Amino acid sequence: MIELKSRSDMDAIHENGRIICSLFDILENWLEEGMSTWDINSFCEDYIIRHGGNPSCKGFEGYPAGTCISVNEQVIHGIPSKSKIIRHGDIVSIDIVVDRKGNHFADSTRTFVIGTIPPRTAELVETTRRCLDAGIEAASQKGARLRDIGKAVFDLANAHGFGVVRDYCGHGVGFSLHEDPSVPNYVSHYTQNILLRPGLVLAIEPMINMGTHRINVMRDGWTVVTADRKPAAHFEHTIGVTENGVEILTVL
Ligand code: MF3
Ligand code: CO
Repeated sequence: MIELKSRSDMDAIHENGRIICSLFDILENWLEEGMSTWDINSFCEDYIIRHGGNPSCKGFEGYPAGTCISVNEQVIHGIPSKSKIIRHGDIVSIDIVVDRKGNHFADSTRTFVIGTIPPRTAELVETTRRCLDAGIEAASQKGARLRDIGKAVFDLANAHGFGVVRDYCGHGVGFSLHEDPSVPNYVSHYTQNILLRPGLVLAIEPMINMGTHRINVMRDGWTVVTADRKPAAHFEHTIGVTENGVEILTVL
């Protein structure tokens, strides 16, 4: 069931989205090789709580931390760990959800680059960022439907020869972390091609792999890695559909 959001709901989601965006902007300069993903998670949880938010991932379906931090071949749901040290040349995807009192969830992800990376990896990160932009642009068109988002994301990634993850999708968000509808990053004929109407709030989140689109889930039950262990990138924004197009709710 799809639950539409009011203007004031979207404003409240945006407040939580601003916390994530301002935190990401700080992380751009703060992240350094030698830090553990545990250190990074602690910094993020502390920042979110100090700004009046709740790091929603903690406890979600038993997930143990306030953020997901996925390095290189890890696609999503990397569990922060004291033994996972980030190194020069790594790409680090940080996925954060913030709510307030169990409501108005905002969900956003950025892939950060640590030092210098090979050109093809840089192309992967940049293309994934542009896939997100393309998905948002597609959603902004008058009369846009759900499948337009996946088509825009897929076509761009595919043109660069990258694999598009199919086993995980974007989603409705706002009153809880995962809501209907599912938002695939490809043209899926299993999902209803609904009209994007005012009040819809969606997390659009391309997960793009350098090689195969196939993934494995590690024995911890959470960490998703590429089947060929080549790198993956991930960008995500929460958007709200209004009468005038879309608003990105996870920017300042
Ligand atoms: N933003 C992530 C997603 O949309 C949240 C993952 S839930 C967690 O899938 F439990 F893994 F943190
Ligand atoms: Co999400």
